[in-house]
Amino acid sequence: MADFKHKEIEQLLVRALQAISNSNTILELEDTRVKFIGKNGELTLKQKTIGTLPATERPQFGEEVNKARNAFDSAFQEKTAQLQQQELEAKLNASTVDVTLPGRGMPLGTLHPVTKTRLRLEQIFKSAGFIVASGPEIEDDYHNFEALNIPAHHPARAMQDTFYFADGKLLRTHTSPVQIRVMQSKGAKPPFRLIAPGRVYRCDSDITHTPMFHQIEGLVVDDTTTIANLKATLQNLLQVFFEQPVNIRLRSSYFPFTEPSAEVDMECTACKGSGCRICSNTGWLEILGCGMVHPKVLENCGIDSEKYTGWAFGMGIDRLAMLRYGIPDLRMMFENDLRFLAQF
Ligand code: PHE
Repeated sequence: MADFKHKEIEQLLVRALQAISNSNTILELEDTRVKFIGKNGELTLKQKTIGTLPATERPQFGEEVNKARNAFDSAFQEKTAQLQQQELEAKLNASTVDVTLPGRGMPLGTLHPVTKTRLRLEQIFKSAGFIVASGPEIEDDYHNFEALNIPAHHPARAMQDTFYFADGKLLRTHTSPVQIRVMQSKGAKPPFRLIAPGRVYRCDSDITHTPMFHQIEGLVVDDTTTIANLKATLQNLLQVFFEQPVNIRLRSSYFPFTEPSAEVDMECTACKGSGCRICSNTGWLEILGCGMVHPKVLENCGIDSEKYTGWAFGMGIDRLAMLRYGIPDLRMMFENDLRFLAQF
């Protein structure tokens, strides 16, 4: 250390340098800086006394205070660099990066189980020569009801109560209007062999019903097809879809646009017919409605009902998805809970 005539400056500097060297963190070092060269720091105050000294003493005193200040500054800078380096190293050591670990990757989305089921059904039908048709979800009364032999005030309308717009349009209650749209489209004539998947809407909401759900319509019209073809097609479809032998039964039913009409039950895939919670202990699951296209519907579409026959069915896609994936509650499908969706 350089010689100092003013011992109090020398002692101050010795204490200051000691304090710097005792500072173990950047924060402690900052306290030391404030203590000595802050606004009211000890060295700062010493500098301020210069003006009060007799003129003869000032140069010597001033020079020594400056020397002390310079010594402090360089020790301070050195210590700052040293502590920064130390803290950086400590941080790096604490968070070791194992560069040999595989990367985390970007999370990929998945298809919704209903979409997966729809695509699977489309694939199966396409392989059997069906085409995939579609129609609007906002329908008019004519296509949704009238042309399907459901006149105004028909009780079947109440069974399919839906959401109406001010202009008389409505959210379609089933995919059956697509039958009409295809058969009436310009230049179209039998044979027809199509499916029409899509969203449908009804005023319904409980464990097994949501106001929006998905159906897949099927329609075949030609000059030879019979109800035996309908039954065989459905049986084959379900077998391919569920990848196991399935038993089905046709139960007599009623739809205004088919005659005869049937409800199709499939032997419960969960209990193989012995009865369980999923099939409400009946051993059977109701999965679709179907029938031979009513002659009036064919005639409404300008098709000679003496020459042509047809059959149609309407199936719940959500229902099939639940059975295939073992989903217990229909509403889970539409809650958008990622813990549910990420499983598919
Ligand atoms: N459209 C009927 C429904 O939604 C199902 C159906 C379609 C029945 C085609 C017979 C023929 O309930």
